[in-house]
Amino acid sequence: MGGAYLQPPDPHSHSHKASSKKPGCFLSKTTCAWLACGFLSLALLHLLCCSPAGSQRAALSPLLQYINNTYSFVSTVPGPGPPVEVEEEERSSCNYAVGKWVWAPGHARRYNATECNVKESHDCIRNGRPDTGYLDWRWQPADGCPLPAFDAAAFLSAVRGKHVAFVGDSMARNQAQSLICLLSAAFPYRLLYRDSGPGPRKHNFWRYAFPAYDVKVSFYWTPFLLRATGKSEDESVRDNHVHLDALGDRWAADADTIDVAVLAAAHWLLNGAIYYNGSRMVGAHGYPELNVTGVGYAWPLRVAYRAAVDRLSAAGGRPRTVVLATFSPSHFEGKPTNDPTACAKTEPYKDGESDMEWMYREVRDVVYDEANAARARATSGNGSSASATRVEVLDVSKLASMRPDGHPGLYMHDHPFANGAPPEGMYSDCLHFCLPGPVDTFNEILLQILRKRR
Ligand SMILES: *[C@@H]1O[C@H](CO)[C@@H](O)[C@H](O)[C@H]1NC(C)=O
Ligand SMILES: *[C@@H]1O[C@H](CO)[C@@H](O)[C@H](O)[C@H]1NC(C)=O
Ligand SMILES: *[C@@H]1O[C@H](CO)[C@@H](O)[C@H](O)[C@H]1NC(C)=O
Ligand SMILES: *[C@@H]1O[C@H](CO)[C@@H](O)[C@H](O)[C@H]1NC(C)=O
Ligand SMILES: *[C@@H]1O[C@H](CO)[C@@H](O)[C@H](O)[C@H]1NC(C)=O
Repeated sequence: MGGAYLQPPDPHSHSHKASSKKPGCFLSKTTCAWLACGFLSLALLHLLCCSPAGSQRAALSPLLQYINNTYSFVSTVPGPGPPVEVEEEERSSCNYAVGKWVWAPGHARRYNATECNVKESHDCIRNGRPDTGYLDWRWQPADGCPLPAFDAAAFLSAVRGKHVAFVGDSMARNQAQSLICLLSAAFPYRLLYRDSGPGPRKHNFWRYAFPAYDVKVSFYWTPFLLRATGKSEDESVRDNHVHLDALGDRWAADADTIDVAVLAAAHWLLNGAIYYNGSRMVGAHGYPELNVTGVGYAWPLRVAYRAAVDRLSAAGGRPRTVVLATFSPSHFEGKPTNDPTACAKTEPYKDGESDMEWMYREVRDVVYDEANAARARATSGNGSSASATRVEVLDVSKLASMRPDGHPGLYMHDHPFANGAPPEGMYSDCLHFCLPGPVDTFNEILLQILRKRR
């Protein structure tokens, strides 16, 4: 692997891809939006535990203003179109990354999230969300390419005898919990372990078994993929300390047992962290007050994905599939996280209604670059173990960006309107998806990736 690649970017070189995107709103529109986006997510992640209402607001407002001014959102949403027939024929290759949401009554009404133990804040139906139209859409890939509805038996036979592990942040967990729900609605399961602990921690490390197919599905909370201490372990801590030379301990210890790995990380890197190599601090993102190199988020994200894929490629000749998921953006749309109208939409965007692509393209490029680099290493390498690993991209950015209606919003809380208006300063979750909801589509595409011949 290229040594130069693993060095932090020179902050004075404007030719370097990552270093030319230094933080600072005078530099680039994209950088600024990312920063704002990152702070929004950070605020959201923070509030999920223990932030006093409104405490983040003052610091956020200039950035929110920026996004608000950069974007104009069309407020009129046309009604749903006519049903579209699903093509059943097999296609040799489909691009699931592009397409549109089409009206398909009942398509996403496939399980009761209370029965599959999802995180309470994603169980929108239990929390009293009154509208259900967000469950009536399916993703139609471009060029008439078929994307079949999720089929639990097909999924389990595609991974028979295998260990499927989701590794990453809360979007990885969102997808992992969706998969458990989709599978357990059709097949018996056993909970093998789930970490105990206060509040959200009980959702951070768990494993289910589906004995009929000898399949295991795990989730490893590792929002940087790498070893990290601080906020990602304890919400009451402000900072993230991330070790570029080591992977997250728990998943790395199990890496040899994983047959299918789904990796998703980015939100926490956008939010900022202090990075170390061994005991040496090599840089930071989002800490202008520290006198260290600003490394941005793209470079550490590349280091993290590369280290993770290398680790999964190294383990003993086992044929393995590594799936890198792209960024799933939030939909605060320039509103504060405690604005009750944030992500209150009840239908997807229409084509062209909101182009969020510039917001997620940079992170998506990192994912594609790392997937391509890993494939190149595998085919040029001499070892048989490297070439036994298949690397795929699960590109959900476009389909996720078109679903402002699929988030819990205020329904991350139990019956937020129980006493009339929601309490002052109540937060909305415009980042994760309701379960059931649009994130089930991530698993429909994952199934097609796993069924594809190597
Ligand atoms: C960490 O430092 C070692 C030794 O200087 C170097 O070989 C390696 O590339 C560095 N790793 C990163 C991620 O910068
Ligand atoms: C967003 O823009 C609208 C209209 O341009 C304005 O009324 C509103 O106050 C802005 N919101 C924020 C958070 O700046
Ligand atoms: C979901 O399951 C729970 C627990 O079994 C039950 O109380 C609830 O009524 C169910 N919800 C729906 C919408 O069926
Ligand atoms: C920051 O670091 C540079 C180079 O190490 C040093 O020259 C400078 O004095 C430092 N500034 C502060 C405020 O510590
Ligand atoms: C492959 O092996 C040959 C001979 O052992 C060696 O010369 C070459 O550098 C190796 N290539 C790679 C990519 O490791």
